[in-house]
Amino acid sequence: MELLQPDPSGIQRAVELLRRGELVAFPTETVYGLGANANDDQAIGRIFAAKGRPANHPLIVHLPAADTMRAWARAIPDAAWRLADVYWPGPLTLVLNKAADVSNRITGGQDTVGLRVPAHPVAQQLLQTFGAALAAPSANRFGRISPTTAAHVLDEFAVENRVLAVLDGGACSVGLESTIIDLSDKQPRLLRPGMIDLTEIEQLLGEKVARPAIGDGPAAPGRLPSHYAPTTPLAVMSGDAIAAMLTQARPGIVVLARQAPVADIGAHHWVIMPNDPEAYAFRLYAELRRLDQMHLNQILVEQPLQSLEWEAINNRLERAATPVQH
Ligand code: TXA
Ligand code: MG
Repeated sequence: MELLQPDPSGIQRAVELLRRGELVAFPTETVYGLGANANDDQAIGRIFAAKGRPANHPLIVHLPAADTMRAWARAIPDAAWRLADVYWPGPLTLVLNKAADVSNRITGGQDTVGLRVPAHPVAQQLLQTFGAALAAPSANRFGRISPTTAAHVLDEFAVENRVLAVLDGGACSVGLESTIIDLSDKQPRLLRPGMIDLTEIEQLLGEKVARPAIGDGPAAPGRLPSHYAPTTPLAVMSGDAIAAMLTQARPGIVVLARQAPVADIGAHHWVIMPNDPEAYAFRLYAELRRLDQMHLNQILVEQPLQSLEWEAINNRLERAATPVQH
């Protein structure tokens, strides 16, 4: 895989590959995306093959600017323009009724399409130079942790020959996937929490955003109970439960907590995470990936607060957790 620098020649090379129907991973402010020409069905097919992703899981279309939304969606509600005005470019995805000619390969056969204008300067330059939309899921194998650096993308697809290049844009500033709001029906619905404050969105819309339970509505990887998972078993629990585990269990546990250990942790490992949700989100995936590569017996994550600010983090941790056998 080619590692491209985020300079004019790197962007030019990426555009050349995309025009040939190839896959190029690129940075966004949320996570790295695996990009393909959104107007080329064959190129889109390559995304599903490279990720090992089921064909009925829709892709987000990344646009160079908000006004190009008209080419992809029909009956665009006023609410969409209002949110786009405030949050684009940025970490918000809008699900709208699709325009007639949008490919079923992108929408997974649904009548809606997910759209977003990313804010990362390298994503912006790429989209401007390419001059058209890019379909891009997160640049990881299906079910795995999203990449937040170019090195993570290399990790994911090193032995995969369908991803030809990755543009290096450094570490993604948000670190968690975009907030997804579905505006295709009467009441707005939150399909995936992200780092945008939902009360601010509700204020802007002048109405409540519904929160469908996981499992309702269309199949979507972000809505599967288990997703974003490391291979090392992961559990989320209280500080007290973690302390008890450490005294009983054999070595090989790593704890991700927001403070220093209160007692001797013996041969276990301890990682201190930030107390602030933005800083925590920025580091989370990189830490999980690093810890996974230590091949330990278990990752124990101290349960963050159950508040709105931590909702996206709690949502990803729940899905990263190893399902409990009933
Ligand atoms: O931050 C992000 O959104 C990143 C960056 C690369 O933009 N992309 C990303 O893509 O997370 P992906 O494919 O890993 O997750 C996109 C989510 C999936 O849960 C997908 O099912 C949902 O968006 N989605 C896309 N189009 C949809 C639609 N028409 N209806 C419902 N859900 C949709
Ligand atoms: Mg993903």
